[in-house]
Amino acid sequence: MSDPHPSFLERHQFLIYRLFSLAGLIPVGAFLAVHLLTNSSILAGDDGRTFQSRVDLIHSLGPLLVPVEWAFIFLPMLFHAAVGFVIIANGMPNVGSYPYVGNVRYTLQRATGMIAFAFIVWHIVQLHWLGRPFGGGRFDPHHAASTAAEALQPVVVSMLYVIGILSTVFHFSNGLWTLGITWGLWTSPAAMRRANVVSIVIGLGLAAAGLGALGGFRALDIPKAREAEVWAEKQKRALSVPGAAVSPTPIPETSH
Ligand code: HEM
Repeated sequence: MSDPHPSFLERHQFLIYRLFSLAGLIPVGAFLAVHLLTNSSILAGDDGRTFQSRVDLIHSLGPLLVPVEWAFIFLPMLFHAAVGFVIIANGMPNVGSYPYVGNVRYTLQRATGMIAFAFIVWHIVQLHWLGRPFGGGRFDPHHAASTAAEALQPVVVSMLYVIGILSTVFHFSNGLWTLGITWGLWTSPAAMRRANVVSIVIGLGLAAAGLGALGGFRALDIPKAREAEVWAEKQKRALSVPGAAVSPTPIPETSH
């Protein structure tokens, strides 16, 4: 017999599940991909100059950065995570009826969602300025490469990043495949197999970008990166003061 008083979640199950699924792709998944690719620019071999310029580009949004972060990253992620926890707790019946229910990937999708949540909260506290009241917020956008590298030096921290990156990337790329089923994009077994290959390729690419970035930050020559950042900072300040002379000294070259 059907429940005469269905809950809000039960009444709007279809729409909520679709919004949850969509949020996993856009904007959260898209942000994840851009974030990992941006970080991998630390591998350019120029003491973090390319990475710093990418960070400058993001921070050129100025006061708009905070509302943009909340609207396109934090709130959609909190929504996806909240619905995800409800699904895991079996609070939403009849969702995600995939042909692989009960297998390893189904369990891993849920486990990595929870690991991703814990990792992302910790990552934000550790590096984002929002984490300052908790003793974190170590990333300084004016000294982007050196401050990120310093935070990643402890071996335990790096190990936790390996787990966090791999879990989040698995969750996203496996989720891409299940999302196609949610939205009816691949329905035949052949189409599902092809989509599976695409998801695996995307997952491997993002894992390489994320782990490559981690390795790049760990291998960074921090004093040299700091020198380049201080120099770049002086140039920016000089350029922002009308009439001030820009230092004729060329930017210190990387010796490779
Ligand atoms: C970077 C962060 C995240 C991204 C990019 C992401 C992305 C995705 C995608 C694309 C899907 C597939 C949706 C579908 O099958 O229609 C999914 C499913 C799922 N996500 Fe996330 N997600 C993230 C974080 C989280 C977090 C923090 C949780 C919290 C536990 C979570 C819980 C879940 C669950 C439980 C599913 C499977 C739903 C089902 O079995 O039907 N996700 N995610």
